[in-house]
Amino acid sequence: MMDVGRHPKVELMTFSEVESITGFVGNFNVRVRQKARYVDASECTICAECAEVCPVAIPDAYQQGFSSRKAIYLPFPQAVPSAYVLDMENCLGNNPIACGKCAEVCEKKCIDYDDQDKFVDLEVGVIIAATGMDVYDPTAYDEYGYTRYENVITSMEFERLICAGGPTDGHFIRPSDRKAPQSIGFIQCVGSRSRDGRGNPYCSNICCMNTVKDTLLLCDHYPGIATKVFYMDIRAFGKGFEDLYMRSREEGVRYIRGIPGTVVENPENGNLVLTVENTTTGQLEEHELEMLVLSQGVIPRRDGDQIKHLLTLSTTSDGFIMESHPKLKPVDAPTKGVFIAGCMESPKDVKDSVTQAGAAAARASILLNAGKTRIEAITSQINSELCNFCGICAKVCPYNAILAPDRKAKKAPIIIQAACAGCGACAAECPQDAIGMRHFTNDQIMAQVDAILAVEPQKHLVTFACNWCSYAGGDNAGTARLQYPTSCRLIRTMCSGRVDEKFIMRAFRMGAPMVLVSGCHFADCHYISAVRWTQKRMDRIWSKLDRLGIRDDRLRLEWISAAEGQKFAKVMRELEDKVKSVTKEEIEFTMKVLAEEEAKAQEKKAKRQLEVTVL
Ligand code: FES
Repeated sequence: MMDVGRHPKVELMTFSEVESITGFVGNFNVRVRQKARYVDASECTICAECAEVCPVAIPDAYQQGFSSRKAIYLPFPQAVPSAYVLDMENCLGNNPIACGKCAEVCEKKCIDYDDQDKFVDLEVGVIIAATGMDVYDPTAYDEYGYTRYENVITSMEFERLICAGGPTDGHFIRPSDRKAPQSIGFIQCVGSRSRDGRGNPYCSNICCMNTVKDTLLLCDHYPGIATKVFYMDIRAFGKGFEDLYMRSREEGVRYIRGIPGTVVENPENGNLVLTVENTTTGQLEEHELEMLVLSQGVIPRRDGDQIKHLLTLSTTSDGFIMESHPKLKPVDAPTKGVFIAGCMESPKDVKDSVTQAGAAAARASILLNAGKTRIEAITSQINSELCNFCGICAKVCPYNAILAPDRKAKKAPIIIQAACAGCGACAAECPQDAIGMRHFTNDQIMAQVDAILAVEPQKHLVTFACNWCSYAGGDNAGTARLQYPTSCRLIRTMCSGRVDEKFIMRAFRMGAPMVLVSGCHFADCHYISAVRWTQKRMDRIWSKLDRLGIRDDRLRLEWISAAEGQKFAKVMRELEDKVKSVTKEEIEFTMKVLAEEEAKAQEKKAKRQLEVTVL
C-alpha cells in the first residue's frame, strides 16, 4: 500500500467511494466521492496529541473490538496517507462546538470541522475492480456459544490477539481472565460447506491453511500449548501447503476428524467443553479446552449489489462476481473494459489474489496500449422508422448499451456498438420488431425454422440452443458418442435471450409437435442477466398457449451447460417420447389457431400503419 502511495504514476484516492460509472470501454466516466477527513492529511504529523485529549472512546473495529480508539484516530499503523481522521459520527465537537479539544492542541492547525465531501470526475479507459470480501458472522451457530462465551473467538479475532501490533502487543491471552491459555481448539468450516441453511455451501478455500499457520504460530510462541483442530477434511493443496500441514502435526497439534455438536462453558473456570463425534474412531468424545477459535468462512461483500450495479456485473449463485469465461477469460468481466481480481471473484489466498491482479493489470494494459478495441460483429441495430419509442429495449439491455428513446422529440434509442455484447434480448423483446441482430436476423432464424419443418414437421423437435452452453452441451454429447434421437434439430442463437416469441409460434404454426428452448444455467448466462428475460418471456408464452387451448407442455425450457452432454442427450430422449405423444389432431388444431392469430395480428398492424400514415 505504501509503495502504491509513493508511485509517481498511481493516484491513490483513500477514504473515497465510487458514486457512479457511466460510459463504455475506452470512455468510462467515474464519479468519486472523497469523504471529508476533517484533518488536513498533508499537514498532519501524527503527533497523537489530538487523540490524547479526545474524551470519546469507542471500540476499535481494526482491533476487533479488543481495544478502544478515540473519535480522532489513525485507522491502522500503516495507513496511507499516514494521517489522523476525525470520525464525525462520534465526535462531540461539531455543530455546535461542544468540545473542540483536538483543534485546540493541534499546533499545525490541520483540523477543520467544516470540511465537506468532494466529488471528483475521472475519465478512464478501463476499470479493474478488486473490492474484496467479508467474513462470515458465526453467531448463527448458537451451539458454539460465540458472543455468549468470552473465550470463544473467531479466526479474525485470533489474528489481532497474536499480532505484535495488536491490542495485547502479541501476548496471547484468553479474554475472560487475561491469562495465557494452556489448551486451545479450532473448529473448521464455520459457515462454509454447510447445507443446513445457516452457512454457505461452498468451500472458503483459505481457512484450512490459515488454521495450520495459526497452530504453527502458537507452537512457535508457546511451546507446550495443547492444540486441537476439529475438521471435516483438511484441504492443503498448493505449493508447500502439505509440508506446512505435516509440520503442524509433527509439532504435536492434534487433528480430530469431526465437527463438535455442542460447546458448553464450565462456569467455575471458564473452560469450554466440546462434544464431538470422532468420525475416524466412531467414538463420541468430550474435550475440555481453555479457548476456542471458530475458523469462519468468507462471504461476498455485503454491499456487493452496489458494485454489481455500478459495473453491470453478474454474480454466481453464491454471490461472487462472475468472470467472462472461467478458463479463457478468468479476469475479464462480462462488461467490456472491466477486469476483476481477488476475492470479489471467489475466495482465494494472497498468492492467488496477487497473480490474478497481475493478470488483470496486464489485460487492462493491452487494451490501453492498443488505444483501440475490436467490437463484436454480432450487435443490435435499430430501424428507427419502426420504433414507437416505448423504451423496452433500454430496460432489457444488461449492458446499459442502449440510450433510451426520447418519446417527445420522437428520437429513437441509440445503440452504443462498443458496449453491445450481442445477446439479442432487446431484439426479442421489441414489440415493433424495430431492433435486429446482425448475423442472427429474424429472417435468418425464421428460414431455419421453415427449413426444419418443410418435410414431415410432425417428426421434428425444434430446439433453440444458446451458443455458449446448450449448443456446446450438444457438442459434448456428440464427442462423447452419446446416443440421442435424430429427430432433434438445433437452431443456434447467441443467448437464449434472443429467442423471440415469433420463432416459437412460427414453429408451432408450421406443424412442430414440440419446441425446446435451452440456455445456460441461470447464474452462467454469458450476457449478465439476459437469461432472466428468457424466463419471463417463456412464462408469457406458456400463458398464451394456455389461453389458446394449446398444451403448454409442448414448449419446454431447459438449462443445459456446456459440460452437460449427458443431460442434453437425456432431455432429447425424453422429448422424443413427448413428440410421439402429440396427436395429428392436436397439431392441426394448433396450426389453425395460430394461423388465425397471425392473421388478426397482421390486420391490426396494417390498421396501425394506416393510422400513422393518415396522421
Ligand atoms: Fe446461454 Fe445467455 S448465454 S443463456
